[in-house]
Amino acid sequence: IGSEDGCRAYAADDSDVLAPNPDVVVLAASAEDVQKTLAIAERQGVPVTPRAAGTGRTGGAVPAAGGIVLATHALAQVKDIDTRERIAVVQPGVVTGVLHALCEKEGLFYPPDPNSLDTCMIGGNVAENAGGPRALKYGVTREYVLGLEVCLMGGKALRVGRRTTKGVTGYDVTALLVGSEGTLGVFTEITLRLVAKPPEIATILALFTDVHACAAAVARALGTGVSPRCIELLDSPTLDAIRAQVSIDPRAGAMLLCEVDGDAKGVETQAMRLGEALSSGDGVVDVVAAQDAAQRARLWAGRRALSSATRKLARHKISEDVVVPRFQVPELLHRVDRIGEENRTRHLTYGHAGDGNLHVNFLWDDEADKARVDRSIDQLMRATIELGGTLSGEHGIGVTKAEFLPLEQPPELIELQRAVKRVFDPKELLNPGKIFPAPGHKAC
Ligand code: LAC
Ligand code: ZN
Repeated sequence: IGSEDGCRAYAADDSDVLAPNPDVVVLAASAEDVQKTLAIAERQGVPVTPRAAGTGRTGGAVPAAGGIVLATHALAQVKDIDTRERIAVVQPGVVTGVLHALCEKEGLFYPPDPNSLDTCMIGGNVAENAGGPRALKYGVTREYVLGLEVCLMGGKALRVGRRTTKGVTGYDVTALLVGSEGTLGVFTEITLRLVAKPPEIATILALFTDVHACAAAVARALGTGVSPRCIELLDSPTLDAIRAQVSIDPRAGAMLLCEVDGDAKGVETQAMRLGEALSSGDGVVDVVAAQDAAQRARLWAGRRALSSATRKLARHKISEDVVVPRFQVPELLHRVDRIGEENRTRHLTYGHAGDGNLHVNFLWDDEADKARVDRSIDQLMRATIELGGTLSGEHGIGVTKAEFLPLEQPPELIELQRAVKRVFDPKELLNPGKIFPAPGHKAC
């Protein structure tokens, strides 16, 4: 694609990051197309931004330096689902939800479930090391990537990792590439570990008067010894955003959506213990089990639609994905309140509370309010680090958080990573402007 209009669709992702239009978009139809593009780009000194579905939240797929966008969404083949070895081999353009369905038909399970699973693609999930609600029990994407076929800047294709369940040979280059945010190579094939599909799931909905009672219940739930597959928290403004879609007790000012899975007997005992722990505290409005599959589906539809539902609440929204140690979730929520009050910013919070991973969202209508939002985000990042946390649980650093990286990592560690980057991409042409703060940044 070379026309300006055609290129425009590839200038943005699901963040608010403004990037220049790419000069050209390459729609790769084969691994050879990827190789050729990276060979030409290196020779000509042109920046390349790889992209799958473009559903990322941090500007990872936007062409911050212009040049070429290399789109891999048409590489959408599921090459193998090996039931004997419990392995899937896929191309980067496979939609995550499609892979889920194919695996589950075979009695297998690919756990990572970013909430955009109907639109996001495995290539982007691997590049960003995506998470999702079920990461609490099953971990994030990296836990499932066994091997990769990757194309490096200059056009060299390389296979890294393995196709066996176990293996420790050499440096774990696969793990390095997962979550490298498109800065080290472009994936053309991904080998994934699968697990057995859990036969039963129980969904528990716990309603509380306010978010602080809700956070206290998260600590009680984690103390039970039960391993829920998710503990999702929704605060009051978040609940309000989905009330039209899902009927929720009007007395509720916060909600936990929890799930356990496993065999029928285990699920029943786990659900009971979890229910008891959730109920036995202050500010509990109600704790109920989802009645049937339809109610469960409605609840998850509401949860999965949160990002778009909350986007409608204001002209602008920014969604963070900070993580704190789980016992610090109540303190983080207090800090968020204070930050909001001090800066008079509108905010809402939801997310994967069981992991300590919260999506703190700031909303604003007027450009004039942006400075106060920026101050709030700066304070949120500092509070996160102060509480022993990390800047990103699943969305990556991208463009939006690059300036905050020095808050979490010392200059030596940032320089070490930059040096690794230069080994893969000496001219620094692959996805420039991501992860690392711009040269001249105050902390550099
Ligand atoms: C979610 C995305 C925003 O959890 O990560 O809905
Ligand atoms: Zn999330």
